[in-house]
Amino acid sequence: MAINPLAPEWLSLPADANALADGLWPISATRNADGELVVGGVSASALAAEFGTPLYVIDETDARTRATELRTAFETEFARIGGAVRVYYAGKALLTTEIARWMVADGLNIDICTGGELAVALAAGVDPARLGFHGNNKSLAEIDQATRVGIGTIVIDSPIEIDRVAAAAARNGIVQAVRLRVNSGVHAHTHEFLATAHEDQKFGVVLEDAPHLVAAIRAKESLRFTGLHCHIGSQIFGAEGFAESASRLLAVHAGLLADGPVPELNLGGGFGIAYTSADTPTPVPELAARLADIVSVECARRGIPIPTVAFEPGRVIIGPAGVTLYEVGTVKPVEVSLGSPSRSATRLYVSVDGGMSDNPRPALYGADYSVRIAGRVSDADPALVRIAGKHCESGDIVVDADYLPADVAPGDLVAVAATGAYCWSLSSNYNYQGRAPIVAVKDGSARMLVRGETIADLLARDAGLATGRAGRDTTTDEGIL
Ligand SMILES: Cc1ncc(COP(=O)(O)O)c(C=O)c1O
Repeated sequence: MAINPLAPEWLSLPADANALADGLWPISATRNADGELVVGGVSASALAAEFGTPLYVIDETDARTRATELRTAFETEFARIGGAVRVYYAGKALLTTEIARWMVADGLNIDICTGGELAVALAAGVDPARLGFHGNNKSLAEIDQATRVGIGTIVIDSPIEIDRVAAAAARNGIVQAVRLRVNSGVHAHTHEFLATAHEDQKFGVVLEDAPHLVAAIRAKESLRFTGLHCHIGSQIFGAEGFAESASRLLAVHAGLLADGPVPELNLGGGFGIAYTSADTPTPVPELAARLADIVSVECARRGIPIPTVAFEPGRVIIGPAGVTLYEVGTVKPVEVSLGSPSRSATRLYVSVDGGMSDNPRPALYGADYSVRIAGRVSDADPALVRIAGKHCESGDIVVDADYLPADVAPGDLVAVAATGAYCWSLSSNYNYQGRAPIVAVKDGSARMLVRGETIADLLARDAGLATGRAGRDTTTDEGIL
């Protein structure tokens, strides 16, 4: 079997197109005696039979182990340099009430960025003091609610928010702890980072403005300044971007100490994960050690105490814990010209029963993923496949390129790895596809975290139907089909 010339350079021909590559699948993922994918002790066919497809499957043990290991690694490394850390789980990656409770039980705080995420955390019973609230356009109502419920910290994102948060805190009779989000001019993604004087983006304030904005915050009786905050990007594999950013922030942080306490420094999230075998993110313990070293060196260089350093990772905790199951509907070989009429190669289009509505990341960012047949193994030769969704967009691709056994066929269950982060949370109802359910698997059993949306759910919001077509039964799928 030769490499398909249509395959991207990074994709190598697997020795076994059934194999679950190391580092891509949840910790518990394995194949049972029938060759089926099993996650959290539950087989793919059992999950599909009980909950249908598409289906988001979260390995609870995997997510919680990663959360605990990350927190422990950072606590250990920062204790080594005489400091302390506070780890927030970035709820935007995937937030349900149960996931919020896992994270808090495992010693993490929760980072939210809308009133909706705040509502989920509160509904989960999370102590508001453990919440950090950021976002570039928090509404007055969101700010008011946050201060009223006693939220831990609010990240001020623009000068206009100083007055807004101060007024809300005063109205609610509290002194609100706030951070100031700065734009460090460092933007990082995978192996590279870009460092400029200013970044042309919507988040935060330029670093040079921090001193006078912090002075304005300190002048408000209802605000307590705790430190600077930044977030330099996502899916970052190395520590260098964080190092540059920490160095730039600590230079300003040191100056701020002249006029009052600055107990914290928040370096955001963004730690990368492997979506394909070609991805090589720095392991979390190594990242923790390097970041602790950087903070230690930078603080020593400036002769300042080490602040409590906060981090807000999301993807690295929940991303690898998730798998999406789909059923294959159609399989279609497409002959693709290689530049001359006589040269072509075949790409196998495998269409599944979901797509950009449950995972828009490939369409949004060109994100790559990995796929395996989940219901069986096969000794057919590997064929280059593209997993396509069912939506009316040619860019509706779930997995741009991977190899699957060439006999992949309608009715097969397939699993896409590392879909725990930013898939369900970015999902949509495009083409009136109801959002898929999320289930948690653990120790051989599965339970629903969020049920899927039915057509009845979607039609229930259609005002035209309520008034114009009164009397029609819209409470069941049957009623409208
Ligand atoms: C301010 C902030 N913190 C944390 C995160 C979490 O990033 P990640 O899930 O890549 O760790 C984000 C993601 O966009 C963010 O904007």
